[in-house]
Amino acid sequence: MKILIIGNGGREHALAWKLAQSPRIQRILVSPGNGGTAINQNFRNIAAQTPEEFLKIAQDEAVDITLVGPEVPLAAGVVDLFRSHNQKIFGPTRAAAQLESSKDFAKAFMARHGIPTARYQSFTDANAAHAYIDTHGAPIVVKADGLAAGKGVVVAMTTEAAHAAVDHMLADNTLGAAGARVVIEEFLSGEEASFIVMVDGTHILPLATSQDHKRLGDADTGPNTGGMGAYSPARIITPQLHARIMREIIQPTVQGMAKEGLPFTGFLYAGVMIDNQGNPKTLEFNCRMGDPETQVIMARLRTDFVDVLAHAVNGSLDQIDLDWDHRTALGVVLAASHYPENPRLGDRITGIPPDSDDHVVFHAGTRFTDGGLYTHGGRVLCVVALDQTVKLAQTRAYETIQKIHFEGMYYRRDIGHLGIKQKP
Ligand code: AMP
Ligand code: GLY
Repeated sequence: MKILIIGNGGREHALAWKLAQSPRIQRILVSPGNGGTAINQNFRNIAAQTPEEFLKIAQDEAVDITLVGPEVPLAAGVVDLFRSHNQKIFGPTRAAAQLESSKDFAKAFMARHGIPTARYQSFTDANAAHAYIDTHGAPIVVKADGLAAGKGVVVAMTTEAAHAAVDHMLADNTLGAAGARVVIEEFLSGEEASFIVMVDGTHILPLATSQDHKRLGDADTGPNTGGMGAYSPARIITPQLHARIMREIIQPTVQGMAKEGLPFTGFLYAGVMIDNQGNPKTLEFNCRMGDPETQVIMARLRTDFVDVLAHAVNGSLDQIDLDWDHRTALGVVLAASHYPENPRLGDRITGIPPDSDDHVVFHAGTRFTDGGLYTHGGRVLCVVALDQTVKLAQTRAYETIQKIHFEGMYYRRDIGHLGIKQKP
């Protein structure tokens, strides 16, 4: 079996690492890939950027299944293009990917199908948006409608901050077309979790739960980032809450998309907020796996992922069960200095230990050149450790990090704190 993975992050390295464990794998291509997929002989990196270029790789290399990591090629229609050329690919069509690529689409969809989420209104007119903020007060959340690489959400604790966000997006156009429409919604408090499932159009296969740490600083302070660390399973998702999220959020979404003529295929990621009474509400949908959630989820998956993927593209996800390592996996992102604003690039990385049964280091923003590994992005590595409890996995992850060095390396010291507070 030949598999093509589209993307270049830690998520894609973790997917490649897991797929490579399958005896059915003949070759894994990663496009464009990173330093971690370049140095491993199981993988081959191929440079490409557009859906047409990815299709050419799949055709030239006689790829059996393509797996899409990031949202941008999905929103650009890579799945539609592959399907029109009879190439098997796992991901949503451009129209179905609107669940992520348009917050306005996602909110209106949830309203139509009674899926719990924050109350909201959409605006293209700045004056109307300002008036809405004045009526509702702070805290309040302002979101750019389109894809904005993690920069499109402002959780405003004051009305001044909310007005400023509206001015940036609607008046100054700082996010371009992505910010030409904004969603303004009710602030939700509680604890967040990442609930990710695989969908083949009809059947739903839930993956292990996880929790991300979006803020840059310890104790969840500082600016939002792509994610500074994650652990799986999420302690807050009890079996009862799991059943409820499936019943109230995931199933109505998959059924609703099918009913509206946009059957969903691919990874469906619901970011959920659980309030202090234990009620879940949808914060957002992503149409892909999370990063760094993938790194901890793949570290725990025991089932052959090639088998899972084959069922996913053949519409038979009801015919497979997933088997999980019972241990907790905890991943800490090692970022470049000045991430996320202006990450420093080009520093030599040393000391990455070889994988073992209880730890593995996934690459994200790395580049292999002149016989060495260099930093090449904001999030550089993700160090994942496995152990019996969140606390033990955390200790093991931080021990492993001590061996790794690059200039300006920054990481949070408290990944997993929510899981530790709740007692494993
Ligand atoms: P999103 O890209 O929609 O997930 O938003 C990014 C982050 O902003 C989320 O992970 C939450 O931490 C926060 N957020 C988004 N929407 C809300 C909301 N309605 N209330 C509180 N926090 C939110
Ligand atoms: N870690 C959050 C995301 O992938 O969107």
